[in-house]
Amino acid sequence: MPPPQPLIARPSGGLTGTVRVPGDKSMSHRALILGALAVGRTSIKGLLDGADVRATAAAVRALGATVTRHGDGLWTVDGVGVGGLMEPAQVLDLGNSGTGARLLMGLLATHPVTAILTGDASLARRPMARVIQPLEMMGASFTGRRGGLLPLAVTGAALPMPIDYRLAMASAQVKSAILLAALNTPGTTTIIEPHPTRDHSERMLRSFGARVTVDAGRIEIEGQPELTPAALDLPADPSSAAFAIVAALTLEGSDVTLLDVGLNPLRTGLIATLREMGGAIDILNARESGAEPVGDLRVRASGLRGVVVPAERAPSMIDEYPILAVAAARATGVTVMHGLGELTVKESDRLSAIARGLAACGVQVAVDGDTLTVHGAGGPVPGGARIPADLDHRIAMAFLVLGLGAKAPVEIDDAATIDTSFPDFAGLMRGLGADISAGTI
Ligand code: S3P
Repeated sequence: MPPPQPLIARPSGGLTGTVRVPGDKSMSHRALILGALAVGRTSIKGLLDGADVRATAAAVRALGATVTRHGDGLWTVDGVGVGGLMEPAQVLDLGNSGTGARLLMGLLATHPVTAILTGDASLARRPMARVIQPLEMMGASFTGRRGGLLPLAVTGAALPMPIDYRLAMASAQVKSAILLAALNTPGTTTIIEPHPTRDHSERMLRSFGARVTVDAGRIEIEGQPELTPAALDLPADPSSAAFAIVAALTLEGSDVTLLDVGLNPLRTGLIATLREMGGAIDILNARESGAEPVGDLRVRASGLRGVVVPAERAPSMIDEYPILAVAAARATGVTVMHGLGELTVKESDRLSAIARGLAACGVQVAVDGDTLTVHGAGGPVPGGARIPADLDHRIAMAFLVLGLGAKAPVEIDDAATIDTSFPDFAGLMRGLGADISAGTI
């Protein structure tokens, strides 16, 4: 075990500057996986070079694709074609990444190979039955720990069957696992999605030449296409931008511009909510980049007010509740967030982690079922606490942002986990003027 890497955030003045946060994590996994299934060379600009994505790169290499990081930050993937994956000789270790694990389970489910997947202590706690169930209907078989936990073995179907499947929960990972399995399945696979979730897979599949149609929550994909390589340029990750956005909104005197942020409407729930709270977030230079909407965000310090966030909004900001809770802690009045059940099965039990961390920092907070209520301090919160990251990058970053706007410093006991999605988070924030440094309080 490497030694823990504690980080401290100290009360800071306004943040200023223009930055580009790293590439989108969701799209980076998908780009590597679809590149591995295309015939020929895919090029990817803006791929997230974080631990989660590197784990997926290593996995698709083990399945036969050639993945190369070039000196200028461009990545290329030489794919093996749909149906062309080989059996990996080693265990596939997806580290901390639920997306990597679930998407690979889908990919492997319809290739006639056996593979063993594992991950870190966080990933080994996370439910996999949600993907195992539809993938077994397609003919794959899985042997995992009780209830389908990692480590698990998957044997892909030799004769995969298309399914007509209604998603039981709002999950882009489950939807994407089925879409990937459908690629090497003859006929048309249909997914009914009652609650829309991020549609990066659908958009990117089309960029690779797959036939995917979407009509009123009914997604159809035709199996066994020949995927053609793509030239992708991935936007900056809105879920990473979220930390700088909330820091800028809550630290007086801030004026920060974030470049090339992905603005897929199924990812922008946080921006909508922060604007409702009174946040000054301007979208500049809105444009389409490849298959996705993108823009630059100018964010200025603003007095925030508490709001009620409806459950229907959760899928469009599912990863943003830790940092929204930090904004709510600084706001005037009460913020109520409904429909947070899925937060309990993320990299940590985020609902508990948010509530415990805020309480430790002197914020009044309550959890009632899947509703979180935060009583805003109307300014700097007391702070002065040591928060366990518990292998959860977003908890670590959210509480560092809280520390920047607290009366006393906030420490994260082990910030190494931040590398999964936002390498050099501390450096980028320091560049804007934030006081974040290594050490303990
Ligand atoms: C993701 C979907 C979401 C999200 C995760 C990335 C994806 O998970 O929380 O960080 O890339 O599809 P769920 O599918 O579990 O909602």
